[in-house]
Amino acid sequence: MALYPLLRPLIFRLDAERAHRATIAALKWIPKRRPPQFPASLTTSIAGIGFPSPVGLAAGFDKDAEVTGPMLGLGYGFVEVGTLTPLPQAGNPRPRLFRLNEDRAVINRLGFNNRGQANALERLARRDRSRGIVGVNIGANKDSADRIADYAVGVRTMSPVADYLTINISSPNTPGLRQLQDEGALRALLGAVAEERTVGGPPVFLKVAPDLGEGEPDQIVRIALQHGIDAIIVANTTITRPPLKSRHAAETGGLSGEPLKALALDALRRFRSAGGGALPLIAAGGIGSVDDAWQRIRAGASLVQLYSAMIYEGPGLARRIASGLADRVAREGMASIADAVGIDASR
Ligand SMILES: Cc1cc2nc3c(=O)[nH]c(=O)nc-3n(C[C@H](O)[C@H](O)[C@H](O)COP(=O)(O)O)c2cc1C
Repeated sequence: MALYPLLRPLIFRLDAERAHRATIAALKWIPKRRPPQFPASLTTSIAGIGFPSPVGLAAGFDKDAEVTGPMLGLGYGFVEVGTLTPLPQAGNPRPRLFRLNEDRAVINRLGFNNRGQANALERLARRDRSRGIVGVNIGANKDSADRIADYAVGVRTMSPVADYLTINISSPNTPGLRQLQDEGALRALLGAVAEERTVGGPPVFLKVAPDLGEGEPDQIVRIALQHGIDAIIVANTTITRPPLKSRHAAETGGLSGEPLKALALDALRRFRSAGGGALPLIAAGGIGSVDDAWQRIRAGASLVQLYSAMIYEGPGLARRIASGLADRVAREGMASIADAVGIDASR
């Protein structure tokens, strides 16, 4: 999209949350187009789903499933909507979303602002599922008395319209949520999720934080495998603060984009070494180029997702990365991108 360099200064004049609202509104008006035809070498199969391109849109951009069609049309191989909670909720007070331009990063403390699962369900039920893959990322309401029950509700409610579900236990903006990654809580949560799953229902992925202590990836992989989790998404935003230049650096919330790259890659490697390839991995965090995506795939990711880099590079980024990946596959003499998954893993 050669248009984006011209539009970007206008979008960046708005505060980040308004810019996001305006972008969603504009996307609803762009003429409908079918998703591009991707080279066959990019097809990746996970948990029985054939992804036409391994480059997807990460959760949080289209929280309420308003623009899945346009985003698939722009060349994302799959789109993850949400996080959706059972009940609508307003999220944290504004300002709560910050662009860190000098760092090509974002800090958010949105706190799962969304219109709730019933609202998105209605839209998703109407969509033409032949147009592409849409995953539904689910979470718990901030005020819920029983968070685990909220995930069970999410599985039950959203399964009929989801090509896959993501259990998000890694947002830093709902106090205490990340404690669901701890051993006992994770067992209870994934046990409850497994009980809600039905034969023929969508696969279930688990999304983790990049900020994990030693031994945690092994523990999470073990519990995930025991409970039939189909893939792990590594990773969500970080609460750590690598060196940053922007004036917003000290804002509270989750950091994403370029400064998250090294941390997310390291977390991916730890999960790969924990799972040894037994559990498919999906990489997210600071992916903004063909090199980034290729590195993550070689490190063990079957799919990649991005969000923050799109803010800086424009909506055509996913398509450019997909096309670059197809070139790499051809240059390496491989038949399929799947042949590259994890080839750097044991080094
Ligand atoms: C503004 C914003 C909102 C986000 N909201 C969610 C969310 O609701 N659920 C979720 O699982 N991840 C959410 N994320 C995390 C992204 O899905 C992704 O894991 C993270 O941003 C790292 O990828 P990136 O560096 O390409 O942005 C959000 C990220 C941003 C920047």
